[in-house]
Amino acid sequence: MPDIDLFTPVQIGPHTLNNRLVMAPLTRNRASREGVPGPLQVEYYRQRATAGLILSEATCISPEAVGYPFTPGIWNGLQVAGWAEVTAAVHDAGGKIFCQLWHVGRVSHPDLQPEGRLPVAPSAIAPAGEAITYEGMKPFVTPRALDGEELPGIVNAYRIAARNALSAGFDGVEVHAANGYLLDEFLRDGSNLRADAYGGAVDNRARLLLEVLDAVCGAWGASRVGVRLSPVQPFNDMRDSDPLATFTRVVERLNAYDLAYLHVTEMGRDAPGAAGPFFDPLDLRRVWNGVYMTNAGYDKARANAALAEGKADLVAFGVPFIANPDLPERYRRDAPLNPPDPATFYGGGEKGYTDYPFLG
Ligand SMILES: Cc1cc2nc3c(=O)[nH]c(=O)nc-3n(C[C@H](O)[C@H](O)[C@H](O)COP(=O)(O)O)c2cc1C
Repeated sequence: MPDIDLFTPVQIGPHTLNNRLVMAPLTRNRASREGVPGPLQVEYYRQRATAGLILSEATCISPEAVGYPFTPGIWNGLQVAGWAEVTAAVHDAGGKIFCQLWHVGRVSHPDLQPEGRLPVAPSAIAPAGEAITYEGMKPFVTPRALDGEELPGIVNAYRIAARNALSAGFDGVEVHAANGYLLDEFLRDGSNLRADAYGGAVDNRARLLLEVLDAVCGAWGASRVGVRLSPVQPFNDMRDSDPLATFTRVVERLNAYDLAYLHVTEMGRDAPGAAGPFFDPLDLRRVWNGVYMTNAGYDKARANAALAEGKADLVAFGVPFIANPDLPERYRRDAPLNPPDPATFYGGGEKGYTDYPFLG
């Protein structure tokens, strides 16, 4: 049997993907201030529809979930209508797209919150660093610890957002439990000091994620739901006293769902130990029973090696897809890649967004 490589089709749930190049979720801060994607987003995602699967930029489930300017939402009709244009364009171009469902938790600021309220979190611990507001950078504030009685409301917001994503024509959803946002804040003991059923033992810290999954899978069926984790990622001041034990147990619990895939980003690997005692996130592959997606710093050669060695089934590419809308074709032909322009990653218009050239 020939080696599996980036161009070997793969089945995830009901979907057959043409290739194993996934476009990683990429926040680009170009939606309207009301969180509505427009024609520029339609063009951007259409251009990248040759990815085996597109993961949308992180998309806010509620007004309280917002933590950055000009990020899209999926809690109201205008947002759903905007996303419906995006999904239709991707489908017309032969692609597939999942919606990454996002609540930022403490990584917000009163300036971005309804009525200037405090951001919410598992515990009242401010992350080190600064929030990005419409008026520039401001120090993070100490968030308000969520009361246990409020958690069903958060779960319900995920349920409504998941249903909205279905209405908007997405092919599935990815629950964002990575990178120091709300669900990750519950998972790791550096940000979760709760004494109730949502803190302490890993099974307790994973409770909110699993309740969210129950709700989202209720709307979509588990085979069209993925989860993203970032076990060694220190971004947003995250750490855990034992990431190997924490994330091994989380993945064991996720095995109870017949999910479309598990997506584990290796971000933070280049800062060994910054998020807690080091371990190799690829070890989680052995714990997981289903389709495994890896990410961070992959190029064609590394991705093909990981796939051939069975270390992953799918590889998500972030920055390469920003700069190369036709990344699969470039890899297929071993063509040179466009260099990315980091100055235009976050915010702006078409420059650095929809104007990267395709192969001639
Ligand atoms: C501009 C930019 C925006 C990002 N936005 C998100 C996001 O919305 N959700 C998420 O889970 N990760 C996000 N990430 C992380 C990427 O999905 C990915 O993990 C990271 O770029 C590493 O992969 P790469 O080396 O292939 O670029 C973002 C990264 C970049 C550079």
